[in-house]
Amino acid sequence: MAKSSVGIIGMGVMGKNLALNIANHGYFVSVFNRSDSETMKQLFQKSIDRLFPYLSIKEFIYSLKKPRCVLLMIQSGTPIDIMIETILPFLQEGDIIVDGGNSFYKDTIKRFNFLKKKQIQFLGVGISGGEEGALTGPAIMPGGDKKAYQIISPILKTISAKYNQEACVKYIGPNGSGHYVKMVHNGIEYSDMQLISEAYFLLKHIAGMGNIELSNTFDKWNQGELSSYLIEITGNILRKKDIENNFIIDYILDSASSKGTGLWTAKSALDLNVPCSVITESVFLRYLSSLKANRMIASTILSGPLVNKIKNFNKIVFVEDIRKALYLGKIISYAQGFSLMKRASEYYDWNLNFSNISKIFRAGCIIRADFLNEIVQAYSSNNNIIDLLFAPQFKDIINVYQISLRNIVITAIGCGIAVPLFSSVLSYYDSYRTIDSPANLIQAQRDYFGAHTYERIDKIGSFHTNWIDY
Ligand code: 6PG
Repeated sequence: MAKSSVGIIGMGVMGKNLALNIANHGYFVSVFNRSDSETMKQLFQKSIDRLFPYLSIKEFIYSLKKPRCVLLMIQSGTPIDIMIETILPFLQEGDIIVDGGNSFYKDTIKRFNFLKKKQIQFLGVGISGGEEGALTGPAIMPGGDKKAYQIISPILKTISAKYNQEACVKYIGPNGSGHYVKMVHNGIEYSDMQLISEAYFLLKHIAGMGNIELSNTFDKWNQGELSSYLIEITGNILRKKDIENNFIIDYILDSASSKGTGLWTAKSALDLNVPCSVITESVFLRYLSSLKANRMIASTILSGPLVNKIKNFNKIVFVEDIRKALYLGKIISYAQGFSLMKRASEYYDWNLNFSNISKIFRAGCIIRADFLNEIVQAYSSNNNIIDLLFAPQFKDIINVYQISLRNIVITAIGCGIAVPLFSSVLSYYDSYRTIDSPANLIQAQRDYFGAHTYERIDKIGSFHTNWIDY
């Protein structure tokens, strides 16, 4: 029997759909799962002829072409280490292990180093696009052994999403860099989703839109510069009804959970001293949303303004201001994400290519958006731009759209409606553009109570003042 080009371990939705995607492109794929063979057969009724289910790890591994390539699509964390230990005895020098889950990049670095000693090639691959993307074409971010990437890149290129025929997969860099880039993708996903949710809330509560008008508004926005997957699905979500003819959105609990990649992005930003305030705030807002019980109590105790009729309210202008604020929020959130990747690239010596990364993001992944073309252009002319906000593609539009952002934040605050992420974007924007921050006082306070010294604007060096006259 012909040997398989790749073996996949883990038949959850992502693993199963990737297996089908690869098989649908003409490759033989071996699959291994802990379930019985009947379940496996049922899983693959449609294209069973190129998929070979195995219940024994040894037979599964020996069914693969050399160098063997084993793709792990299992839960991140300890299960990955256990599986690596399980398959290692059957692998040979030069074989390839690919971790295609949302693994923590520091774990990927450790696994890379561990497997290098065993002469096993390792790739940590970020895969984005959810269930549907895995089947029809995900965005793929491979990091680790470059030689291993070269061996499996024909398969990855074939199954990936395409943007104008260009495959949304490119080698990212050494060890944990692929998983790092996927992690930041998810961090940006968090802020994109939060900004869209706040826009929805303002349209609903201040502009008084019903679900159909809301849905049409997002559809319309999706025709313009906001065009993106998340805006598109928001339009679809808002018009969806259940069998009782109720809009489903109105019956979904306002409490969102998270699996960890947003938290890791925020943690990394804190570790690397990068002010990713917008991404980090969006992680906190998931936590705040899930304090539903506390919020119910707070709503009966803590007072604030009621949404009353706003004087001189112009709905058309307000809706357009929200659209512009959303676009500006998006630019700033992506800019923060790319600044974080830039810092990580320096710190870990990854030599990341940001034009390539933004090219990968253009199709297949959750944060795909037309405006990524602008980011591609910005980085194609200079991979080392200090900040995306200074790029010619963005700076003019930012200067105009900040007025709209300011308008909607002022209106929302006046009405007592929380727009924490829009507010965070505006605070970041104003803090960033100011030449005089209040940090002079913080320096003085630190020196006062801790003799931490301070720098001066008129002299070079560190200074200390004896602030208290005893
Ligand atoms: C993707 C998604 C995917 C997943 C996230 C959701 O790129 O396909 O980002 O990775 O949906 O894990 O993350 P939370 O559960 O933390 O929202």
